[in-house]
Amino acid sequence: MFTCTATIDPAFTIAPVPPRLFGSFVEHMGRCVYGGVYEPGHPEADVDGLRLDVIKLTRELGISTVRYPGGNFVSGHRWEDGVGPRADRPATLDLAWRSVEPNTFGLNEFMAWARQTDIEPIMAVNLGTRGVQDACNLLEYANFPGGTHYSDLRISHGVREPHRIKTWCLGNEMDGPWQIGQKTGTEYGRLAAETAKAMRRIDPTIELVACGSSNVRMPTFGTWEAQVLDEAYDVVDYISLHAYFEQHGDDRVGFLASAQVMDSFIEGVVATCDHIAAKRRSPRKVNLAFDEWNLWYENRFTGQDEPEWARAPRLIEDEYTVEDAVVLGNLLMSLLRHSDRVTIACLAQLVNVIAPIRTEPDTGAWRQTIFHPFALTARHAVGEVLRVEPVSPMLHSTTLGDVAAVDVTATRNPETGETTIFAVNRDERQPATLRLRMAGEEHEVVEHVLLGGQDLLATNSRTAPRRVEPRSSTRHQVEPTGLSAQLPPVSWSMIRTAPRAVAAP
Ligand code: AHR
Repeated sequence: MFTCTATIDPAFTIAPVPPRLFGSFVEHMGRCVYGGVYEPGHPEADVDGLRLDVIKLTRELGISTVRYPGGNFVSGHRWEDGVGPRADRPATLDLAWRSVEPNTFGLNEFMAWARQTDIEPIMAVNLGTRGVQDACNLLEYANFPGGTHYSDLRISHGVREPHRIKTWCLGNEMDGPWQIGQKTGTEYGRLAAETAKAMRRIDPTIELVACGSSNVRMPTFGTWEAQVLDEAYDVVDYISLHAYFEQHGDDRVGFLASAQVMDSFIEGVVATCDHIAAKRRSPRKVNLAFDEWNLWYENRFTGQDEPEWARAPRLIEDEYTVEDAVVLGNLLMSLLRHSDRVTIACLAQLVNVIAPIRTEPDTGAWRQTIFHPFALTARHAVGEVLRVEPVSPMLHSTTLGDVAAVDVTATRNPETGETTIFAVNRDERQPATLRLRMAGEEHEVVEHVLLGGQDLLATNSRTAPRRVEPRSSTRHQVEPTGLSAQLPPVSWSMIRTAPRAVAAP
């Protein structure tokens, strides 16, 4: 047993919890769309083919925004193939995943799903095989009220009211050699700036996301962001970050400390944005859209699990363990403590493809282990994020060096005084005692739940969909100056407190 201490003080706030921090991502990849959100004829599907069990779990997960339609898919996508009468839509080749795209689900079906699911859409335009003109055509189709070619085309497709999509991504991972239409930072920055300029003339209310690096390990990381923003700083609102985590070699401590990698990735991109702002003497702030993040066992991904040119093949349907859920809960803590700059984040992806929700054709949808820390954080991280500086012993990671054994983040609802503490113990052998000094009012614990501490390799599956669920804990104690709680080895905990009701004299 070892001890970690932290102070929770409502005076030290970082930022309000951004509502779009709890976003997700739906790509035309594998069985995310076909056989995931959309499966006509499935007993759980409505008359439009939308799976209601998936909609129910998406709401329960607390998803606020969804990015669509890719991903690498978008860089070869022709959006007009996916609108209009289904009988007229062509089946096409998706070059990103070497699959056949039936185009029976497209922009208008996605928007119907978004309305039913009560999420805000984020749309990506193709800057791989296409450019300024096509981005404008799509925006005109989606957002222009009527009386022009593309807006009238939308109306002729039965969608009278414009979709009014606010947030648009200017391409996807344009630095990656795997991307169709890969560009240099300067080439992409010029294209992004010109596309942004033209799109804003059609709809000045939109906000735009420029592509950052595909991941922090890209050889051009840092330079790419600077080159893109040198060209596009004045016309974009966000720069994107993508990160997928897995264990490298036998460095389990490094995997458990993935949130530390996320912390420094975010801080590197913030520094680059602010460097460009300073160079330009710009009063604008470009914020960060972490619009793809998750765990992904890329070392097990061969690129294609099924024959090429299949429809909706089973691609990267990773099954997540309890340990993965602990790491994912910790990654959310990293996003929360950077919520002054990361104001959009999308867990990639939503269904089947590296996803918190799984489906099969012959049964109802179920929750993967990673569903649980996400849903609990989305529901209970309310109000403002507090600045917490835990004092913890260190562990040694062969890839990261020394990392803190315990990580802590907290949020507080200023209206009710309710405070939610998120804590992770990364130590594989020892439980930790977390001693919290709570400044201000006395608190009582209203809920203490955790994941981990045991059965770290357990998963949920179609035959055992509820094997892993958060369990409640009584291992906490209210003390005169705060509280203490026990954190089992390799665990994620959420402790909700409320100001203690003072008895009338
Ligand atoms: O989410 C899967 C893929 O990962 C996306 O298509 C791409 O943007 C990223 O490399």
